[in-house]
Amino acid sequence: MAELSPLQLSCGVVRYRPRQVCGYFTLRVQIHGLRKLSIQVQGGDRIGLIWAGSEGLIMRCRRFLFALKTIRDCIFSRRAQAVLGLAAMFLVIGLEACRDTAQPASPVTITLLDPGWLDQEFIAWRMHEEDEFTRETGIRVKDLPAPETAIDQLALWRKLLQNPTDAPDVFAIDVIWPALTAEYSLDLSPYLADTTGDFPMLAANDTVNGKLLSMPYHADAGLLFYRTDLLREYGYRAPPSTWDELERMAARIQKGERSKGKKDFWGYVWEGAASEALTCNALEWQASEGGGRIIDNDKTITVNNPATIRAWQRAAGWIGSISPPSVTAYREWDALNVWRSGNAAFMRNWPTSYVTSENSGINGRFGASLLPAGRAGHTATLGGASLSVYRNSRHAKEATALVRFLCRRDVELARASATSQPPVMPDLYTVPEVLGARPHFAELERILEHGVAVRPSTITGSNYAQVSAAYFNAVHSVLKKEKGASEAVADLEKELVRITGFPAHSPASESASDDKRLNHGN
Ligand code: GLC
Repeated sequence: MAELSPLQLSCGVVRYRPRQVCGYFTLRVQIHGLRKLSIQVQGGDRIGLIWAGSEGLIMRCRRFLFALKTIRDCIFSRRAQAVLGLAAMFLVIGLEACRDTAQPASPVTITLLDPGWLDQEFIAWRMHEEDEFTRETGIRVKDLPAPETAIDQLALWRKLLQNPTDAPDVFAIDVIWPALTAEYSLDLSPYLADTTGDFPMLAANDTVNGKLLSMPYHADAGLLFYRTDLLREYGYRAPPSTWDELERMAARIQKGERSKGKKDFWGYVWEGAASEALTCNALEWQASEGGGRIIDNDKTITVNNPATIRAWQRAAGWIGSISPPSVTAYREWDALNVWRSGNAAFMRNWPTSYVTSENSGINGRFGASLLPAGRAGHTATLGGASLSVYRNSRHAKEATALVRFLCRRDVELARASATSQPPVMPDLYTVPEVLGARPHFAELERILEHGVAVRPSTITGSNYAQVSAAYFNAVHSVLKKEKGASEAVADLEKELVRITGFPAHSPASESASDDKRLNHGN
């Protein structure tokens, strides 16, 4: 007898001997795996009604009635006992069938790949947001694990997105990635109106060939964290406003703290490992000195200039003096760990470090401010992330709903207060409830509006990962004293010409910058 898959059948009537189906009234079935109720009839045969339970098809009332009729027709003349038995059986099955029919469809679960910030408070808040989303929509969210650094993240994203069975429904992308992940992203242009209150440069950054490929999710910009108690103790009324001041203050505080026996104390910690974070740091050094943004918007490679050389040289001088020799292996969390343990006077990091610092021994003894200014003023590298929907997601509707929820004004506002993650709407930075908890947001908003250094990711498109790697490796070679800054910058210029095909132009002046930067604020 040909076997039918249980999924092809929700209910049927069979006459059979135990272990062997020998006759049937309605459909051929495979009994195995299905539920059954039966009574014994003549000659050792049993007659029974079988149906698929919740693990198979849901039995419909209509089919139940059909099965009832079949059995009644077939066995009405048989023993009354059998009829009574069957009547009881139908009652049970009928109740179950109707209960099954009333069951709601199982909720959709979508996957989210967002590295977020590896902080307890942040993770707890993320879960709270997802619960809220599920309460509002009935859609569940499953978080996928992600690595720590931007480079490792990009490698994993590419691997997952190339395989439709592994691809997440929603994925966060770094501000430098829209061109790198464009081919995997659904066009969110129908929701363009949702972005009208955002920093214009963020929505513009997420628009590739006229399509909004991701929705701005959070902003980021480098900040200087400082110890308020130490500034007071050493007679400073404000954090350093220039790199020169930072060097002097860091050296003095470091010396003083070491003389108290704190041998591991350092003046300034930052991210010096050969990674994307070093690109962010070094761009801040050079752009604040007027050294431009590596490659300008007109597709000219401008990195080989005196201001950049001077800025890199200055940073190399910090190693072993105000910064630990191991800073050349530091990523965000390494700097943060030294800082949280109370062993640094100043730290360069992203705004989310604020809440992580509150959860440490230095709580109540630190502040955050603009990074020091160079000759061209204050600046900060623009960071942040947006959310994309996987183009072939089976749950694109639900995934889009999650993106819109996570980027919604009230959700951004609550997140900023709870986690210190900068929102994408400028007007949220001055809301009293945010400013109360995050006093540095006023300055942060000013720098995001007027002073950010933007990495050349849009202009270099899919070559950006290579461009950045060439840049941070060149800076790293200077920090490690393997090359002088002039030589490293000249080599980098050649390398960038090779990668991008753009022409090089070495500005003679030190005012090479297309960014409007803030003048010294304090
Ligand atoms: C932060 C920034 C991101 C940057 C990364 C570098 O996550 O938001 O834009 O690329 O740090 O480590």
